[in-house]
Amino acid sequence: MKALHAAALHLRRPESVHEPFLLPLDQQVVVITGASSGIGLVTAKAAARRGARVVLAARNASALDSVREDIVTAGGNAITVVTDVGDKAQIDHLAARAVEVFGRFDTWVNKAGVSIFGMIDEVSIEDMRRAFDTPLLGHRLRLPGRG
Ligand SMILES: NC(=O)c1ccc[n+]([C@@H]2O[C@H](COP(=O)([O-])OP(=O)(O)OC[C@H]3O[C@@H](n4cnc5c(N)ncnc54)[C@H](OP(=O)(O)O)[C@@H]3O)[C@@H](O)[C@H]2O)c1
Repeated sequence: MKALHAAALHLRRPESVHEPFLLPLDQQVVVITGASSGIGLVTAKAAARRGARVVLAARNASALDSVREDIVTAGGNAITVVTDVGDKAQIDHLAARAVEVFGRFDTWVNKAGVSIFGMIDEVSIEDMRRAFDTPLLGHRLRLPGRG
Protein backbone atom coordinates (compact mmCIF):
# COMPACT_ATOMS: atom_id res chain seq x y z
CA MET A 1 0.00 0.00 0.00
CA LYS A 2 2.86 2.32 0.96
CA ALA A 3 4.60 1.52 -2.35
CA LEU A 4 1.38 2.24 -4.25
CA HIS A 5 1.06 5.58 -2.50
CA ALA A 6 4.67 6.44 -3.37
CA ALA A 7 4.05 5.43 -6.99
CA ALA A 8 0.95 7.63 -7.13
CA LEU A 9 2.92 10.56 -5.76
CA HIS A 10 5.58 9.92 -8.36
CA LEU A 11 2.94 9.90 -11.09
CA ARG A 12 1.55 13.21 -9.92
CA ARG A 13 4.91 14.93 -9.54
CA PRO A 14 7.47 13.53 -11.98
CA GLU A 15 11.03 14.77 -11.58
CA SER A 16 10.86 16.53 -14.91
CA VAL A 17 8.04 18.83 -13.80
CA HIS A 18 9.29 21.84 -11.91
CA GLU A 19 7.37 23.83 -9.37
CA PRO A 20 6.10 27.04 -11.02
CA PHE A 21 8.23 30.06 -10.26
CA LEU A 22 5.97 32.67 -8.74
CA LEU A 23 7.31 36.19 -8.61
CA PRO A 24 6.43 37.90 -5.31
CA LEU A 25 3.46 40.23 -5.77
CA ASP A 26 5.46 43.29 -4.81
CA GLN A 27 7.66 42.65 -7.85
CA GLN A 28 4.78 42.11 -10.25
CA VAL A 29 2.90 44.20 -12.76
CA VAL A 30 -0.67 42.88 -12.79
CA VAL A 31 -3.22 43.67 -15.49
CA ILE A 32 -6.82 43.22 -14.33
CA THR A 33 -9.86 43.42 -16.59
CA GLY A 34 -13.19 44.07 -14.91
CA ALA A 35 -11.32 46.18 -12.36
CA SER A 36 -14.11 48.74 -11.94
CA SER A 37 -16.41 46.44 -9.96
CA GLY A 38 -16.86 43.20 -8.06
CA ILE A 39 -14.17 40.53 -8.08
CA GLY A 40 -11.84 42.46 -10.39
CA LEU A 41 -11.99 45.55 -8.19
CA VAL A 42 -11.32 43.59 -4.99
CA THR A 43 -8.48 41.69 -6.69
CA ALA A 44 -6.91 44.94 -7.91
CA LYS A 45 -7.02 46.52 -4.46
CA ALA A 46 -5.67 43.39 -2.78
CA ALA A 47 -2.79 43.11 -5.27
CA ALA A 48 -1.95 46.82 -4.92
CA ARG A 49 -2.04 46.54 -1.13
CA ARG A 50 0.59 43.83 -1.42
CA GLY A 51 2.81 46.03 -3.54
CA ALA A 52 1.90 45.04 -7.09
CA ARG A 53 1.77 47.74 -9.73
CA VAL A 54 -1.68 47.34 -11.20
CA VAL A 55 -3.18 48.16 -14.58
CA LEU A 56 -6.93 48.65 -14.19
CA ALA A 57 -9.14 47.94 -17.19
CA ALA A 58 -12.89 48.20 -17.82
CA ARG A 59 -15.18 50.34 -19.98
CA ASN A 60 -16.34 52.85 -17.37
CA ALA A 61 -13.62 55.53 -17.13
CA SER A 62 -14.95 57.32 -14.04
CA ALA A 63 -15.41 54.07 -12.10
CA LEU A 64 -11.83 53.10 -12.99
CA ASP A 65 -10.55 56.53 -11.89
CA SER A 66 -12.25 56.13 -8.55
CA VAL A 67 -10.63 52.69 -8.00
CA ARG A 68 -7.25 54.14 -8.97
CA GLU A 69 -7.73 57.04 -6.55
CA ASP A 70 -8.48 54.63 -3.69
CA ILE A 71 -5.36 52.61 -4.53
CA VAL A 72 -3.08 55.64 -4.82
CA THR A 73 -4.48 57.18 -1.62
CA ALA A 74 -3.65 53.92 0.15
CA GLY A 75 -0.04 54.20 -1.13
CA GLY A 76 -0.35 51.91 -4.17
CA ASN A 77 0.62 52.34 -7.79
CA ALA A 78 -2.03 52.01 -10.49
CA ILE A 79 -2.94 53.22 -13.95
CA THR A 80 -6.23 52.95 -15.78
CA VAL A 81 -6.81 51.91 -19.37
CA VAL A 82 -10.38 52.18 -20.63
CA THR A 83 -10.91 48.88 -22.45
CA ASP A 84 -13.77 46.96 -23.99
CA VAL A 85 -12.55 43.36 -23.96
CA GLY A 86 -14.94 42.59 -26.81
CA ASP A 87 -12.57 44.49 -29.09
CA LYS A 88 -9.26 42.74 -29.71
CA ALA A 89 -7.50 45.97 -30.69
CA GLN A 90 -8.39 47.43 -27.29
CA ILE A 91 -6.98 44.37 -25.53
CA ASP A 92 -3.74 44.77 -27.44
CA HIS A 93 -3.72 48.47 -26.52
CA LEU A 94 -4.17 47.51 -22.85
CA ALA A 95 -1.14 45.22 -23.02
CA ALA A 96 0.86 47.87 -24.83
CA ARG A 97 0.06 50.51 -22.18
CA ALA A 98 1.16 48.16 -19.40
CA VAL A 99 4.48 47.64 -21.17
CA GLU A 100 4.82 51.34 -22.00
CA VAL A 101 4.26 52.49 -18.41
CA PHE A 102 5.72 49.64 -16.34
CA GLY A 103 8.01 47.92 -18.83
CA ARG A 104 6.16 44.59 -18.79
CA PHE A 105 3.30 42.67 -17.22
CA ASP A 106 3.67 39.48 -15.21
CA THR A 107 0.09 38.47 -14.48
CA TRP A 108 -3.09 38.98 -16.47
CA VAL A 109 -6.37 38.61 -14.56
CA ASN A 110 -9.54 38.30 -16.67
CA LYS A 111 -12.47 39.28 -14.49
CA ALA A 112 -14.47 41.28 -17.04
CA GLY A 113 -17.85 39.62 -17.19
CA VAL A 114 -21.55 40.25 -17.39
CA SER A 115 -24.33 38.60 -15.47
CA ILE A 116 -27.88 38.17 -16.71
CA PHE A 117 -30.96 38.04 -14.53
CA GLY A 118 -34.16 36.96 -16.26
CA MET A 119 -36.38 34.10 -17.32
CA ILE A 120 -34.61 31.91 -19.87
CA ASP A 121 -37.24 32.57 -22.54
CA GLU A 122 -37.11 36.31 -21.96
CA VAL A 123 -33.36 36.77 -22.32
CA SER A 124 -32.30 37.60 -25.86
CA ILE A 125 -29.78 35.44 -27.69
CA GLU A 126 -27.67 38.57 -28.08
CA ASP A 127 -27.49 39.06 -24.29
CA MET A 128 -26.73 35.37 -23.74
CA ARG A 129 -23.94 35.59 -26.29
CA ARG A 130 -22.46 38.64 -24.55
CA ALA A 131 -22.55 36.82 -21.21
CA PHE A 132 -20.53 33.95 -22.70
CA ASP A 133 -18.25 35.99 -24.92
CA THR A 134 -17.11 38.60 -22.39
CA PRO A 135 -15.30 36.27 -19.97
CA LEU A 136 -14.35 33.67 -22.58
CA LEU A 137 -13.11 35.76 -25.47
CA GLY A 138 -11.94 38.73 -23.45
CA HIS A 139 -8.44 37.35 -23.15
CA ARG A 140 -7.56 37.17 -26.83
CA LEU A 141 -4.31 38.92 -26.17
CA ARG A 142 -1.87 38.74 -29.04
CA LEU A 143 1.15 36.90 -27.71
CA PRO A 144 4.42 36.79 -29.61
CA GLY A 145 4.21 34.18 -32.37
CA ARG A 146 0.42 33.82 -32.11
CA GLY A 147 -2.35 35.28 -34.22
N1 LIG B 1 -19.57 37.49 -7.99
C1 LIG B 1 -19.62 36.17 -7.91
O1 LIG B 1 -19.90 35.56 -6.86
C2 LIG B 1 -19.25 35.33 -9.12
C3 LIG B 1 -19.13 33.95 -8.97
C4 LIG B 1 -18.75 33.18 -10.07
C5 LIG B 1 -18.55 33.78 -11.30
N2 LIG B 1 -18.69 35.11 -11.42
C6 LIG B 1 -18.43 35.70 -12.74
O2 LIG B 1 -17.27 36.53 -12.64
C7 LIG B 1 -17.44 37.65 -13.49
C8 LIG B 1 -17.29 38.94 -12.69
O3 LIG B 1 -18.25 38.95 -11.64
P1 LIG B 1 -18.43 40.22 -10.72
O4 LIG B 1 -19.37 39.83 -9.65
O5 LIG B 1 -17.10 40.77 -10.34
O6 LIG B 1 -19.19 41.19 -11.76
P2 LIG B 1 -19.36 42.78 -11.76
O7 LIG B 1 -19.28 43.36 -10.39
O8 LIG B 1 -20.56 43.06 -12.59
O9 LIG B 1 -18.06 43.28 -12.55
C9 LIG B 1 -17.91 43.01 -13.90
C10 LIG B 1 -16.73 43.82 -14.40
O10 LIG B 1 -16.52 43.51 -15.77
C11 LIG B 1 -16.43 44.73 -16.50
N3 LIG B 1 -16.87 44.49 -17.86
C12 LIG B 1 -18.06 44.01 -18.30
N4 LIG B 1 -18.08 43.95 -19.64
C13 LIG B 1 -16.86 44.40 -20.05
C14 LIG B 1 -16.26 44.57 -21.32
N5 LIG B 1 -16.92 44.26 -22.46
N6 LIG B 1 -15.01 45.04 -21.38
C15 LIG B 1 -14.32 45.34 -20.25
N7 LIG B 1 -14.83 45.20 -19.02
C16 LIG B 1 -16.09 44.74 -18.93
C17 LIG B 1 -17.30 45.72 -15.73
O11 LIG B 1 -16.91 47.06 -15.93
P3 LIG B 1 -17.49 48.03 -17.06
O12 LIG B 1 -18.98 47.83 -17.08
O13 LIG B 1 -17.05 49.39 -16.62
O14 LIG B 1 -16.84 47.63 -18.33
C18 LIG B 1 -16.94 45.33 -14.31
O15 LIG B 1 -15.72 45.93 -13.92
C19 LIG B 1 -18.81 37.50 -14.16
O16 LIG B 1 -18.61 36.86 -15.41
C20 LIG B 1 -19.56 36.58 -13.21
O17 LIG B 1 -20.56 35.86 -13.88
C21 LIG B 1 -19.02 35.90 -10.37
